[in-house]
Amino acid sequence: MLTDAHHRIIDYVRLAVTDRCNLRCTYCMPENMHFVPSQALLSDSEILRLLQILAAAGISKVRITGGEPFLRPGLLALLEKITAIPGIQEIAITTNGVLTAPFIPALRALGITHINLSLDTLQAARFQQITRRNRFTAVMDTLHQLLQHELHTKINVVVMEGVNTDELLDFAALTREQPVSVRFIEEMPFNGQGHTFSGINWHYQRILEHIGNRYPLHKIPDAPHATALNYHIPGHRGNIGVIPAYSRTFCGTCNRIRISATGSMRTCLYGKDELHIKPLLQDTSNSALLLSAIEAAIQVRYANGFEAAQAYQEENRESMSVIGG
Ligand code: GTP
Ligand code: 5AD
Ligand code: SF4
Repeated sequence: MLTDAHHRIIDYVRLAVTDRCNLRCTYCMPENMHFVPSQALLSDSEILRLLQILAAAGISKVRITGGEPFLRPGLLALLEKITAIPGIQEIAITTNGVLTAPFIPALRALGITHINLSLDTLQAARFQQITRRNRFTAVMDTLHQLLQHELHTKINVVVMEGVNTDELLDFAALTREQPVSVRFIEEMPFNGQGHTFSGINWHYQRILEHIGNRYPLHKIPDAPHATALNYHIPGHRGNIGVIPAYSRTFCGTCNRIRISATGSMRTCLYGKDELHIKPLLQDTSNSALLLSAIEAAIQVRYANGFEAAQAYQEENRESMSVIGG
């Protein structure tokens, strides 16, 4: 088991398989985002070796993120190999849905049944404003097909003041007929252009209050290590949730590490790249050396990363697409 100095067990890895994206969400990256050359990304064999080492050390859940994961050539073949790694019990994917629909039957066949879809608006024109791309129809098609194929689908809605706060009730209404979990995420300072940790107006309590004024909200017990607080509206098929990503109420039970597309490990979303794993993966004969480097990095993990980040950073210039969310 991988355990940090604060007695938190790490059994979940978020793996970014690319930094590239076919959208340009304003809260995530600038229009002229610079992507790394493909040879700087972890290769399939490096990813598989790393996951084998992590699984042997107790990691049981892998979330595939990006950038947009389906932009990685050969993703399906890679996923198939990941499913065969002993110890990996759950593979989940976070996607923007632009290219996802045609892959849904194959994902099902691989036993990949948990998909988180990023979708911040139900209006086509606004989608273009937020993402700077005109792909709303493709994303809505993915949403419908995910539900038709009965995949466990969560919609991630980043709540942006003055942009989509007038749609929170529309998203809540969507859960009446659709068995979907809509999760409202506090916006975090990772837009790749410099964003200060200066506070947010739409924090999770305000989101809950706003929806609670229209619908009765019944709390669903929290899953261990969950980032979301979930609620059920009586009579609805789906659920709603809030993710206090900025207020970081869940650091005390955090069970995850992150691997960036270029193979940097982060033990906290608000941390720095603590360990560059790619060079260590070159020596295929020495897995013990890599594992001990990972264990050492986990030992110096923050108790509460956001507080640490505030102390040393006035401006954050990172893009979420590099960290993987
Ligand atoms: P589940 O496995 O379905 O619970 O998903 P998840 O919440 O782990 O993953 P997802 O990729 O859907 O992320 C949802 C949002 O939560 C994203 O905006 C993440 O950046 C944010 N988030 C996830 N982990 C952390 C974390 O450790 N700290 C903070 N502050 N935010 C996080
Ligand atoms: N703040 C909050 N959430 C963000 N995401 C990307 N950038 C941000 C940000 N600045 C979300 C995406 C995706 C998830 C992995 O992270 O919407 O669903
Ligand atoms: Fe792409 Fe996701 Fe970033 Fe939007 S938030 S630009 S979909 S990586």
